[in-house]
Amino acid sequence: MTDLFKKARKFTDPQTYKQMGLYPYFVPFSATIGPRTMIRGKETIMLGSNNYMGLTSHPEMLKAAKDAIDNFGTGCTGSRLLNGTLDLHNELEAGLSKFLGYEDTIAFTTGYQVNVGIVEALTTKKDYVISDELNHASIIDGIRLSKANRVIYKHNDPQDLERVLSELPKNAGKLLITEGVFSIEGDLNPLKEICKIAHDYDTKVMIDDAHGTGVLGDHGEGTPNHFGLGKDDVDILSGTFSKSFASIGGFAAASEEVINYIKHTARSFLFSASMPPASCASVIKATELIQKGDHMRDNLRKLLKRYRSGLVSLGFNTVPSESAIVPIIVGELEKNFRLWRGLLDNGVYTNPYMMPAVPVGHELLRTSIIATHSEKDVDDALEIFAKVGRELEIIP
Ligand SMILES: Cc1ncc(COP(=O)(O)O)c(C=O)c1O
Repeated sequence: MTDLFKKARKFTDPQTYKQMGLYPYFVPFSATIGPRTMIRGKETIMLGSNNYMGLTSHPEMLKAAKDAIDNFGTGCTGSRLLNGTLDLHNELEAGLSKFLGYEDTIAFTTGYQVNVGIVEALTTKKDYVISDELNHASIIDGIRLSKANRVIYKHNDPQDLERVLSELPKNAGKLLITEGVFSIEGDLNPLKEICKIAHDYDTKVMIDDAHGTGVLGDHGEGTPNHFGLGKDDVDILSGTFSKSFASIGGFAAASEEVINYIKHTARSFLFSASMPPASCASVIKATELIQKGDHMRDNLRKLLKRYRSGLVSLGFNTVPSESAIVPIIVGELEKNFRLWRGLLDNGVYTNPYMMPAVPVGHELLRTSIIATHSEKDVDDALEIFAKVGRELEIIP
């Protein structure tokens, strides 16, 4: 008889790294996750969050969330379709439609559920889903769940996209799904070329802008706006509230008829309880603060320039981008964990990435700057990077 749990008994990597003092996951924070936070009683510079606009501790966000609890309680206890829609959900969706320039918007309980629900709802086994090879796991899972044929093109490569599209049946239904800002290394999608090629081949475009919304665009509208694109170029613009919006939940904005279809057919929307009141209210407030936040984005850009050029002049291997994500490529698992541990011991939190998130040999620390960091936070962090990087002989 096959013992299903045998694999669990043999899964000892976490213990091995714990014994070496190098296990980097499930680190508990004991304070608000802002520009600095507390880890095991020690103040730590936070370079590992997606709180790009720094809104997790904004006083107006806190007030909005507390008022929502007073007025609506702690949870909705039901699906949006049935007993889980509050005035707040409708207000949130209307505000986002206006902000993003789309006819309608739907709010899911997580960004993961957006991708898992929409691809499956929109496609059948006769259709094709075209996906960048480095798309986020939630997109991959959405495609796995759908019955459509999956076609992968090379990362951010318009020529390869054109090649794969030209080989597909002309009359088939086709959905291109990819990201505005790629989640691990923060590189931007060349959206102008990608959207044009897709539409030349009668392919609908869905862009997951989880890491672009709030950060890029004239007033934080995201990556399509950054490139001068809008609803005629990106048919479905989706994202999450777990990053710049400093809450939890996800959204998709599109035409009224597409949203109407999704809200009656996407299983991850229908069969899961709705976003709780405090989250809805904080997202409504975040939508307002993001639009008014040009000065925050200016500060973020300034800090990112300082941080990136500091890392490069120290000799770290990173990737240029206009996003708030700054990867530090180490290229070896144990060395990556040692760098993570050294930084943490000296007061800087980062996120180490390994297989399957990145290929073996491309291990990296994913770091990010937020709009409420100060120049001192950046300079203090760089000083610690210099010290630990030299000790580990990662930099000269
Ligand atoms: C590109 C992308 N899409 C979707 C998600 C999922 O979002 P959520 O945290 O809201 O489930 C993430 C989160 O890591 C992401 O990076």
